[in-house]
Amino acid sequence: MTVSRVFVHARFTDGTSRIVGRYMVLPISRGRLGVFDYAGSWLRNEHGQAFAMHPTKVPLGGGTIELSSSTELGFLADSTPDRWGRRILATLRAPDPLPANGPEWLLATGDDRVGCLAFSETPELGSIRTDAASANDLSRLADAFERLERGEPANPPWEQLFRAGLSMGGARPKATVHHDGHLWIAKFQRRTDDFDQCAAEHAAMRLAAHCGLDVAETRIADAGPRRAVLVKRFDRAPGPPFHPTGHYLSALSALDLDETSLLGSYREIAGFLRRHSAAHLGDRIELFRRMVFNVLVGNRDDHLKNHALIHRPGAGWRLTPAFDVVPQPDMDPVQAISVGRHGTTASLSNCLSQCGEFGLAEESARTLVEAMVARLRGWRAFFADLGVDRQTIGQLERAFARRLDTDPPA
Ligand SMILES: Nc1ncnc2c1ncn2[C@@H]1O[C@H](COP(=O)(O)OP(=O)(O)O)[C@@H](O)[C@H]1O
Ligand SMILES: [Mg+2]
Repeated sequence: MTVSRVFVHARFTDGTSRIVGRYMVLPISRGRLGVFDYAGSWLRNEHGQAFAMHPTKVPLGGGTIELSSSTELGFLADSTPDRWGRRILATLRAPDPLPANGPEWLLATGDDRVGCLAFSETPELGSIRTDAASANDLSRLADAFERLERGEPANPPWEQLFRAGLSMGGARPKATVHHDGHLWIAKFQRRTDDFDQCAAEHAAMRLAAHCGLDVAETRIADAGPRRAVLVKRFDRAPGPPFHPTGHYLSALSALDLDETSLLGSYREIAGFLRRHSAAHLGDRIELFRRMVFNVLVGNRDDHLKNHALIHRPGAGWRLTPAFDVVPQPDMDPVQAISVGRHGTTASLSNCLSQCGEFGLAEESARTLVEAMVARLRGWRAFFADLGVDRQTIGQLERAFARRLDTDPPA
């Protein structure tokens, strides 16, 4: 029998949890509808820890709320596995077909899922349990994932390794690992990659930090004959069992858009930040600078799931550190979402065309852009110093803006 409702809980950094509400999927004449009800105890806020799961779509208040996104999951979609996690699930559950409804997806993930939400079939929630592998297992993980990509079944020794890869979003092979007392995401090289993706991601993230952006910490690690890039989780406290530190909302969920839609823009994310961020000017300027950086380094995969906000107790909503920043030489030279009046065109003039939405006067925006261009001119040496091989640098050149190779104005 398929599950049609789940209890939604929030976990906190001190190890406690509170019931937030109940999620249900209802059959309607044209398919199904996801609905959410806050628990009375969350609304009464006797514990002083209540906040809205989404500031406008799921406001604090009584009554049943329709989750309007086409996935029937609304703000809960970020807690479900994405393309990679679904592949793992399919392998783990073979030959049974995958569950195909929202509640089952939520129950399928483990406590390593992004953010602080947790799910149960009854009102009681067990204590947190991580499925993270050790960073010493990177080589075995890489091996198990390669077998999975070749379509081999999940043998028992790999099952635990597969579970470490189940709960995070995204499409690339990845697993949650613990390392140096912190929780990280290990993203693996693929056999089919035609350049060193892991080194490129690490170097691009370091380059973003070098330009003054707020970026998740990364490291390069060996995974047998190949490599992995480790990305430190910004939503987990240090030390096992790595308690969650906040509620995560991707820009896709924040804007309540359908993943397949061609809508979505930096301007709209900036608008959401203006209305809801606890430090909206700083967050909007940071977003503007990330947009300019993505255009200049050719990170074309800057879609709405690669931007996010986090709600931390006492701190409110803030933009998360940047993640999944990788130059993309093989993608069309347009951004995934609109950057200005000329849509997704990857140009600085397009970035500047709506700078007011980011709280910037044109002159200040131009100054920030010029400073970024100046910092990025030396990207080849920066990448080489971080161990990116010459062939990879050669491939990446096609992604970086030609502007970076022209002489600065006298
Ligand atoms: N440092 C991080 N801390 C917490 N969550 C993260 C972090 N980096 C990425 N995520 C989450 O994991 C998902 C997948 O990571 P991402 O790097 O985007 O992988 P992919 O390249 O497969 O898209 C993201 O969409 C985001 O929800
Ligand atoms: Mg991603």
